[in-house]
Amino acid sequence: MGEVTAEAPPRTMRVLAIETSCDETSASVVRGDGRGRPTLESLVILSQDIHAVFGGVVPEIASREHLTAIVPVVRQALAEAKLEAHDVDAIGVTHAPGLVGALLVGVSYAKALALALDKPLLGVHHMEGHLFATLLEHADAEPPFTALLVSGGHTLLLDAPAWGEYRLLGQTRDDAAGEAFDKVAKLMGLPYPGGRHIERVAREGDPARFRFPRPMLNRGQQPGDDDYYDVSFSGLKTAVLHAVRGSDDLERDRAHIARGFQDALIETLVGKTIRAAKALGRRRIVLGGGVACNGALVRAMEAAGGDFGARVYAPTVRLATDNAAMIGAAALFRLARGERSDATLNAHSTMRLPGMRE
Ligand code: KG4
Ligand code: ZN
Repeated sequence: MGEVTAEAPPRTMRVLAIETSCDETSASVVRGDGRGRPTLESLVILSQDIHAVFGGVVPEIASREHLTAIVPVVRQALAEAKLEAHDVDAIGVTHAPGLVGALLVGVSYAKALALALDKPLLGVHHMEGHLFATLLEHADAEPPFTALLVSGGHTLLLDAPAWGEYRLLGQTRDDAAGEAFDKVAKLMGLPYPGGRHIERVAREGDPARFRFPRPMLNRGQQPGDDDYYDVSFSGLKTAVLHAVRGSDDLERDRAHIARGFQDALIETLVGKTIRAAKALGRRRIVLGGGVACNGALVRAMEAAGGDFGARVYAPTVRLATDNAAMIGAAALFRLARGERSDATLNAHSTMRLPGMRE
């Protein structure tokens, strides 16, 4: 009788993930089934509301708030998963990109914990986390797909033929999509962070009252032109500024201006994403980042994708904005490939997405 070789069954693995790149202190336990399927076991997100007072994130305050919150947030995440620290198999932590002082809190804590528990440690790229967020809610939000990551700091249009293999198609030339929302909200006297306030106010707006430019969309670009997939929002922001200054009654016009701005930004993002999905023959579109909370964006993308049979996957609010569960999902993928960080793991304000080519 020939020798029978059975593949060892894939091992269930639990990762404790930590995210402190900006103004959310978050910890999560995510279980992997060994085949790359992540299941959420617990998620705690503490949003640092204090920054609203300053109209933007104050880096030193963010670091100090993380320092105060990190231990109780991790404890709570473990308690919700009904685990002790030594029950987890690995520690995953966001180490780039983000505010360095904020990242250092998470990285130092994760390193100390991994050392004390003698468990493997893995540094995760924050934007790769955003790519994995949807997988926690939709098992088929898997490559190949086109991805649009839209957050406060980034706007990335990516092609993902496989996990860990990314091609950068386009990005913003100036403001990130979330940054544009936040700056426009500020111009209109709305609180920080402004994205959700713009969305709320825009619901009452008349789309025909203010028509703003669709930046870098309708200029007869051809595939191969370097602005074919890129976006730019500074001109749109300036157009909104002129509309605000030109208004003799902002109370009356606010909703209409918000609607005009949101429509222009959404049409641009949807236009570029659909262009990419069609050009690369992708039938899945994955959205991520805080701006993916925007219901009007998701609906517009679904309508445009539906026209050629593409399905749109958008995370729910809790997983679209910064959270440690997405970091855990990305960590599980990389840990399963045998990747580990060593004791020299550091924090970086900018870093190329691993596996990304231009
Ligand atoms: O991904 P995220 O939580 O943090 C970063 O990594 O930056 O994204 C935060 C951004 C902010 O700019 C916020 O205004 C925006 O996401 N945002 C929204 C909405 N909810 C959050 N933008 C538009 N519509 C929303 N509903
Ligand atoms: Zn983010």
